[in-house]
Amino acid sequence: MTSKIAFSRRAAIALGGALMLATAPAMAQETVKVGLILPMTGPFASTGRQIEAAAKLYIAEKGATVAGKKIELIVKDDTGTPDVTRRIAQELLVNDKVSFLAGFGLTPLAFAVAPLATQSKTPMIVMAAATSSITEQSPFILRTSFTLPQVTIGIADWAAKNGIKKAMTLVSDYGPGIDAEKAFKDRLTAAGGEVTGEVRIPLRNPDFAPFLQRVSDTKPDALFVFVPSGVGSQFMKQFVERGLDKSGVRLIATGDVTDDDIVDSMGDVALGTITSHHYSAAHDSAENKAFVAAFTKAANVRPNFMAVGGWDGMHLIYEALKKTNGATDGTALVEAMKGMKWVSPRGPISIDAKTRDIVQNVYVRKIEKVDGKLYNVEFSTFEAVPDPVKAGK
Ligand code: DHB
Repeated sequence: MTSKIAFSRRAAIALGGALMLATAPAMAQETVKVGLILPMTGPFASTGRQIEAAAKLYIAEKGATVAGKKIELIVKDDTGTPDVTRRIAQELLVNDKVSFLAGFGLTPLAFAVAPLATQSKTPMIVMAAATSSITEQSPFILRTSFTLPQVTIGIADWAAKNGIKKAMTLVSDYGPGIDAEKAFKDRLTAAGGEVTGEVRIPLRNPDFAPFLQRVSDTKPDALFVFVPSGVGSQFMKQFVERGLDKSGVRLIATGDVTDDDIVDSMGDVALGTITSHHYSAAHDSAENKAFVAAFTKAANVRPNFMAVGGWDGMHLIYEALKKTNGATDGTALVEAMKGMKWVSPRGPISIDAKTRDIVQNVYVRKIEKVDGKLYNVEFSTFEAVPDPVKAGK
């Protein structure tokens, strides 16, 4: 008996030693890694720059420690190419053992990584991409950006109420453009209007000229446009070169076309353009004034809607870790994020517990001069708008 107990004691001591060895690497893991994959070069680099600056600002303002864990942000450039995004995500999961995947500057980049999030049970925070169906690609996806149907219905309603009977549509030929085209047409048609022509333009190296000639010949009441962030300047230049700004055809768009990164450089020709979107740097709230001031100081440019997606994505990560007391189990983190509500620089937002998509205000805005610079000035609000595609399911 005695010797058995003595043996057990020795065993317990040995086991204790083994446990200490086992916990040694765990202690070293007091860091929680966030893999932030963004287009930092190439035609969509402004998206990457905006989100990176916002994520870094969030960490600088809130501190790099949350729930006892040190947050380490690992930023990787995917150049906007889906194969590269997938490879980087794989490396971040296997080599760096990240607890979160985040970023995703374009829809195809989010689609490329969704299966990896599912297999590895890793929360994937979509901070930019905006095709409605993205959140359905994995139960580990949550979104802090927006969806195109969500922001398009605001401008369609405005058009219907402001005498626009016949409209043409021009969208980039991929997920978000197709979502925007359908949402605009459905909503305008339901209100008694008509879409008389629909054109899809390639995402890469778009040439708007042939289509703008058609618009000029047809003279609809309005032209509705979606192009992704950063491309709006090229569109506006060609719109003006064709004389369409003086043709009586009203230019209406989602706020992607007039994003804060580029709107001031569009010049006075852009004045009066009506758009709807979820964020403007001119949004009138204390939270936004503080955000714009801090961001502009840190990054030397105005924040656009991509920045606010990055900022709120970091908020979601921080708050989820607080709820799990720093535990990094992917399923527990996703559960912690569901239903979360907070006040963003864009206004009040929440994560729908069922769809894991964002619910937020959508604002109708007009380009005006504020202190000599062009801004999207909000003048009406649709409150707490879900993604209408999923709400209708
Ligand atoms: C997407 C990208 C953008 O830059 C944008 O403004 C809207 C949508 C996308 O690829 O999902």
